Amino acid sequence: MRAIIQEKYGSTAVLQAGVIEKPVVGDTDVLVRVEAASVHVGDWILMTGRPYVMRMATGIRKPRVAVPGTDVSGIVDAVGKDVRRLRTGDAVFGWCEGAFAEYAVAGEEQFVTKPASLTFEQAAAVGVSATTALQLLRDNGKVEAGQKVLINGASGGVGTFAVQIAKAMGAEVTAVCSTKNVDLVRSIGADHVVDYTREDFTKGQNTYDLILDNVGNHSMAQTRRALAPTGTLISNGGGHADGKLGRTLRTMLASMVVRQQAAPSVKTQNAADLVALKELVEAGSITPVIDGTYALNETAAAIRRVATGHARGTVVITVNQQRKPVTEAPDSVPPPARPPRLIDAAVAPLAASPPA
Ligand SMILES: NC(=O)c1ccc[n+]([C@@H]2O[C@H](COP(=O)([O-])OP(=O)(O)OC[C@H]3O[C@@H](n4cnc5c(N)ncnc54)[C@H](OP(=O)(O)O)[C@@H]3O)[C@@H](O)[C@H]2O)c1
Repeated sequence: MRAIIQEKYGSTAVLQAGVIEKPVVGDTDVLVRVEAASVHVGDWILMTGRPYVMRMATGIRKPRVAVPGTDVSGIVDAVGKDVRRLRTGDAVFGWCEGAFAEYAVAGEEQFVTKPASLTFEQAAAVGVSATTALQLLRDNGKVEAGQKVLINGASGGVGTFAVQIAKAMGAEVTAVCSTKNVDLVRSIGADHVVDYTREDFTKGQNTYDLILDNVGNHSMAQTRRALAPTGTLISNGGGHADGKLGRTLRTMLASMVVRQQAAPSVKTQNAADLVALKELVEAGSITPVIDGTYALNETAAAIRRVATGHARGTVVITVNQQRKPVTEAPDSVPPPARPPRLIDAAVAPLAASPPA
């Protein structure tokens, strides 16, 4: 099968398109023919191997999993003998290891049947970004109807889901974004918009019961000025810089001493939340926002787009679906030096330029 292979950490130059063996299906596994995958900040972090502490989980010297990508949608191609809930032919979405490939395998609990109303591209966009937004607002933030919620970084992968989920929970939502995204965040339900190129939400008169900060461009003291006396600040990472770990730790420490709660961001992947998100889709409460689609051999360009920190919604890779690639990869370039599991030398470098 065609796949993106990453043998070491580094820039997008470490990503190679190649042909490898199809994954093996274990007794409790589901093999999915990938229709689409989506890219999030975590894919960029895994590619670079930074911050270094992440390598404790992903592999110290090189990635533990040679095929990147986690968020996926597709058709069930085969199931293990102990799989009960899903059948061959089901359209599904969820998480796996190795989503940037024609086939991906994972345990049955990591997939849920796809809402009929979503395209495969939209369903692939749900994955980690929507789950993060759901868990931060529901579990960390404990958002209640009528509360004032501000989402900083409202137009990105997490933010576009967060705006819609907070609205579905009955909150009054203020979205912070740049001028070009004002209409977008209004269209997905924001009640109020702060254009950060003209106004700084930490310097205004308004205060909020909950601030979900996806950007980390203010100090915690500045951000807390915009919190109601018993409000909650959720510092989700801290932007795309290496400082995100330090910011998360500072937030955890602050939550012990400041009057306002500063809840750290946490994230776990579970089927129950995929079902919850599916129900929100089916109720018409959330619709994934797609920044753009890229062919599998354009994965490097897709990851570069995410790394800009200015994606509008989620960046998606189409795999088996018929779509003319934005850039045709040349076929005259040699394969990588020692590709593991590579069974076909027809390897091309990934497209360098983003779509027009
Ligand atoms: N995506 C995930 O699955 C995931 C999971 C866990 C944690 N996180 C963390 O969550 C954070 C956000 O991730 P993401 O995937 O949503 O990022 P993203 O898709 O790159 O989106 C970032 C958004 O932030 C906006 N932005 C940039 N500068 C801003 C500013 N000064 N004020 C307000 N908005 C600004 C951008 O809009 P403009 O173009 O208008 O500036 C862009 O739409 C990151 O720290 C990431 O590590 C992400």
